[in-house]
Amino acid sequence: MTATLEETAPAAAAGEIPSFEVTIRVLRYSPESEHGTSSYWDEHTLTMYGTDRVLDALHKIKWEQDGSLTFRRSCAHGICGSDAMRINGRNRLACKTLLKDLNISKPITVEPIKGLPVIKDLVVDMEPFFASYREIMPFLITSGNEPSSERIQSPAQREVYDDTTKCILCAACTSSCPVFWTDGQYFGPAAIVNAHRFIFDSRDDGATQRLEILNDKEGVWRCRTTFNCTEACPRGIEVTKAIQEVKRAMITRAF
Ligand code: SF4
Ligand code: FES
Repeated sequence: MTATLEETAPAAAAGEIPSFEVTIRVLRYSPESEHGTSSYWDEHTLTMYGTDRVLDALHKIKWEQDGSLTFRRSCAHGICGSDAMRINGRNRLACKTLLKDLNISKPITVEPIKGLPVIKDLVVDMEPFFASYREIMPFLITSGNEPSSERIQSPAQREVYDDTTKCILCAACTSSCPVFWTDGQYFGPAAIVNAHRFIFDSRDDGATQRLEILNDKEGVWRCRTTFNCTEACPRGIEVTKAIQEVKRAMITRAF
């Protein structure tokens, strides 16, 4: 049963943010340490506040207890996509996950995202992920002469691919996909989402090329519609729906 903050935190005076004790278990990997190439669990008990996120807990560990803890983060506000990690077994952004929304009566586990090589602690090698992203040509492709005025698009035409413009390339979807775990060659949901963003853009002329790329044996047909990607996306993108739309466009050539 999940213990709420109200049940576990000491009563705070009016206007005070309630504090509580929480244990964070981090899966560490540090080949140059005495642990060599074996990963190991590291535990820290911290006093945190009702407004703190998992990222704040990681900062507290790094800044006050163990400076060797390694993780990526930049914006700290759910925009840059650099701090996707497995928190209590689910892919999330550490900067968007409030501690009080987790079960703080038990240790909170933090692990690197799966399916990509771990470099150190929570930092994975994102290159295979970005290689797939580059392959789908994530830029506007136009044919013919340069236009003499702006390329007009109606609100209805923009709406068709609005959802997939929200991607921040955090890899939470791709690294939650069981097909990607077993076959790192699979393009993965994020690459397909970003292909969708251009395939359905009325100003773009590269849809046929992108669909041919995704028609590959490592392309969209590997998707098993498990919905892990949709559940993992911190931007609320309907990832599985976007993949289905790309599959349909491949068959009907309607885009
Ligand atoms: S689709 Fe969502 S989960 Fe996947 S990379 Fe983009 S923002 Fe992250
Ligand atoms: S630090 Fe930028 S999205 Fe979390």
